[in-house]
Amino acid sequence: MRILTGIQPSGDLHIGNYFGAIKNMVDLQNQGTVLAFIANYHAMTTVTNGAKLKEMTREAAINFLSLGIDPEKSVFWVQSDVKEVQEFAWFLSQFTPVGLLERAHSYKDKVAKGIAANHGLFAYPVLMAADILLFGSEIVPVGKDQIQHIEIARDIALKFNNKHGEILTLPEFKVDENVATIPGLDGAKMSKSYDNTIEIFSTKKALEKKCKKIVTDSTPLEEAKEYETCNVYNLAKLFLKEEELRALQVRYKSGKEGYGHFKLYLAEVIWDYFAPYREKREYYLANPEVVDAILAKGAEKARDLAYERMTKIREVVGL
Ligand code: ADP
Ligand code: TRP
Repeated sequence: MRILTGIQPSGDLHIGNYFGAIKNMVDLQNQGTVLAFIANYHAMTTVTNGAKLKEMTREAAINFLSLGIDPEKSVFWVQSDVKEVQEFAWFLSQFTPVGLLERAHSYKDKVAKGIAANHGLFAYPVLMAADILLFGSEIVPVGKDQIQHIEIARDIALKFNNKHGEILTLPEFKVDENVATIPGLDGAKMSKSYDNTIEIFSTKKALEKKCKKIVTDSTPLEEAKEYETCNVYNLAKLFLKEEELRALQVRYKSGKEGYGHFKLYLAEVIWDYFAPYREKREYYLANPEVVDAILAKGAEKARDLAYERMTKIREVVGL
C-alpha cells in the first residue's frame, strides 16, 4: 500500500498537531510504504518572505524526523527537491477545467481571508494533484478540509487517463474519524489561531508558563475537585497510563492540592513525554549535515519512484 502525505511547514508544533496528526503519520509507517514530504512549494502561496520559508522548511524537516518519521522505513523529502512535480503539474493543467478550481473551498476561504487571489493560489490543487499522482499514491491521509483536493486530483487523473490510457492511479483519501480534537488552554480546540496552544518543543520555563495559563474553575484548594471537566486533567489524559490517571483522580478528590499543583505536574509529564524527541531534535540541530544527507537521499528515492511514470508521461504527451 502506497501512502502519501504532504506536510505544510507551519511554525511551532503544538500538542494538538502531535496527537491529531503527527502520531498517526508515524504509526502509518508500520502499515505500508509512507511517502512524506515538506510542502514548501505550497507554502509559497502564504509565506512570501524567502528567508522565513527556508527556515520554516528546515524546521519542519527536523521536527518531523525528531518526532518519528523514520528515513529508513519511509521516503522523506522536501517537495522542491523533486522538481519533476512542477513539470507534471503543467501537464495536469491541460486536464484541469477552470470551473473545477473555481469550486475549491480552500481557495475561496483563503481569498475571503484576504490572501491575494493569484494564479499560484488558484493552481494549488493542481500542484497537489501532481504530488499525489506522480508517485502512484493509493491512500492520502488528510484532515476534512483537504478531502476536496483529493477529489480534484481524482477528477484530473480520470481526465488524463481517458485521453492517454490507464497511466495514473486514482488516489483515495483517508480521514481518521477516531482522532479526537485536542483541547487548548481554554478548553476550545487547540489552534495557533486561537492562541491557546502548548508547544511540543519549548523551554521548560515556557512550558510551565503555558500550563499555568490553563483555565480552571475556582474551587478552593481544600475542597475536592471535579476532574472530568477539568482542562488540566483532560490534557493529562493524553499522556498518562491508566494507573497514573487513577492516582491523579485521587489527588483531585483529596482536597490537599490546588490546580497550581496539577498544572505543574502536567508540565512535568509533558516535558518527560517529549524528552526522547527533544534529544533527537537537539542532535539534528547540532548536526545539520546529517539532516542534509537524509533529505538528499529521500529526494533521490522519490525521484526514482517517479522516474518510470514520468518517462512514460513525457512520451505520451509528446515531449
Ligand atoms: P492550527 O489550527 O494550529 O493552525 P494546523 O491547521 O496547522 O493547526 O494543523 C496541522 C495538523 O494538525 C492538521 O492535520 C490538523 O488536523 C491537526 N490539528 C491541529 N490542531 C488540532 C487539534 N486541536 N486537535 C486535533 N488535531 C489538530
Ligand atoms: N494541502 C495540504 C495541507 O494543507 C498539504 C499538501 C500538499 C498535501 N501536497 C499534498 C497533502 C499532497 C497530501 C498530499 O495540509
